[in-house]
Amino acid sequence: MQITATNKSPLDWSGDALALGLFANATEVTGDLAKLDAKLEGTIAELIAETEFEAKPGTTAVARVGSKTPLRKIILVGLGEAKDLTVDDFRQASAAIARIAKQQKVKTLAISLPTGDYTPELCAQVITEGLILALHSDNRFKSEPEKKDNKPETVALLGLGEQPTAISKAEKIASGVILARELVNAPANSINPITMAETVQNLASQYNLNLEILEKEDCEKLGMGAFLGVAKASDLPPKFIHLTYKPQGSPQRKLAIIGKGLTFDSGGLNLKVGSGIETMKMDMGGAAATFGAAKAIAQLKPDVEVHFISAVTENMISGKAMHPGDILTASNGKTIEVNNTDAEGRLTLADALVFAEKLEVEAIVDLATLTGACVVALGGNIAGLWSSEAKLAHEIKEAAEAAGEKFWQMPLEEKYFEGMKSPIADMKNTGPRKGGSITAALFLKQFVKDTPWVHLDIAGPVWADKTKGVDNEGATGFGVRTLVNWVLT
Ligand code: BES
Ligand code: MN
Ligand code: ZN
Repeated sequence: MQITATNKSPLDWSGDALALGLFANATEVTGDLAKLDAKLEGTIAELIAETEFEAKPGTTAVARVGSKTPLRKIILVGLGEAKDLTVDDFRQASAAIARIAKQQKVKTLAISLPTGDYTPELCAQVITEGLILALHSDNRFKSEPEKKDNKPETVALLGLGEQPTAISKAEKIASGVILARELVNAPANSINPITMAETVQNLASQYNLNLEILEKEDCEKLGMGAFLGVAKASDLPPKFIHLTYKPQGSPQRKLAIIGKGLTFDSGGLNLKVGSGIETMKMDMGGAAATFGAAKAIAQLKPDVEVHFISAVTENMISGKAMHPGDILTASNGKTIEVNNTDAEGRLTLADALVFAEKLEVEAIVDLATLTGACVVALGGNIAGLWSSEAKLAHEIKEAAEAAGEKFWQMPLEEKYFEGMKSPIADMKNTGPRKGGSITAALFLKQFVKDTPWVHLDIAGPVWADKTKGVDNEGATGFGVRTLVNWVLT
């Protein structure tokens, strides 16, 4: 799919389908739209009337145009009220256009959306993101790949001028989102600690990044007892992955991104019963977002040094498994009574946080499919955000807004840490059921001394139960766009 932006007007374009964006309460055919409609024998006005098109966000209508015209099909897409227009509406609109174009087997497509107050650069970028992400499908595990993928061959973004840089930026970001989706979609018999490390090794070679992989013995030397406790029952070796992007000149900032990397979470001896265990290949969604962001950042080359970290393992059961009640010592010397082996993510993150802080970075962001409690609190589309510093929280929220990813800040309520008190060790790894996502965040806080830190609980949004907006059913690649925006600004 070749995407180009041009200054061409819809009046001068010819091809299979032209997609037009309309605002709600502005569906009268006047001005340039009327000129175009005259060329199309009144199809636009008829389509709006016949489908009672109200231009609600993300809605579409499509019609065949008479054969004497330069176009075969016209697609209408709703942008909602002009006064409510956000940059993500362009992503949502282009995703909707992409889906209908695929369904209609459009080969040459043009898109004309009113840009409101947004720059043509930004519009070209987010429209491109929406197109690529909506049309991505993961067929790696089918015995016969789709015969024809029915993606448009060419897409022209009309009225935006030439935007090669913005379009290529979007393609790079999308490549990172797609890597994250593929890692999360891959089952635990495909992506495990070994193959995850291999994937990151390939990334490092392809983009010239520095890679350090700590094997079990290296982790032992560093005293990573919390991480290694989780890894004990697996037949596969744990891999502590530390990938670094360094800019050419001297970096403006030095940052760390940590992702929870459980390639499978059975719960351990506190085995997951009932439903839920079958989806636990997604428990490396934080690591997937981390390395997806690395892929995009390595191509976009900002003046920022970024450390991408994940303590990767499986949470399994065997005679070697850690027992409920075991006491682990993390690499900062703190002791943890494991009252629930299913609260394993925070154990792996504890040692990763200590490791990141030793790198003397200016800020640490962790992403983790950490708690079911966060999904209960915020639903499937919104991630929780906890922060030790208001400025960093603000940076992440701004980056997320432009990315079209939803976060909601939650309190680091110190009082609740009382629920984690252990009579025998420094703390337990699990508190009471109430406020479970908050006590999880408070647990992580014990492993960060004074570096500004943000924790993102992405257990809900890493996975989509159904296709919606830019997301296809399955892994969403959530977090990558926010991380990239954050590092770039
Ligand atoms: N990986 C799970 C959390 C999770 C739940 C991710 C649903 C994605 C979807 C995590 O390791 C876990 O098991 N958390 C427990 C914590 C509890 C034992 C304190 C939970 O949320 O039930
Ligand atoms: Mn668990
Ligand atoms: Zn888990």
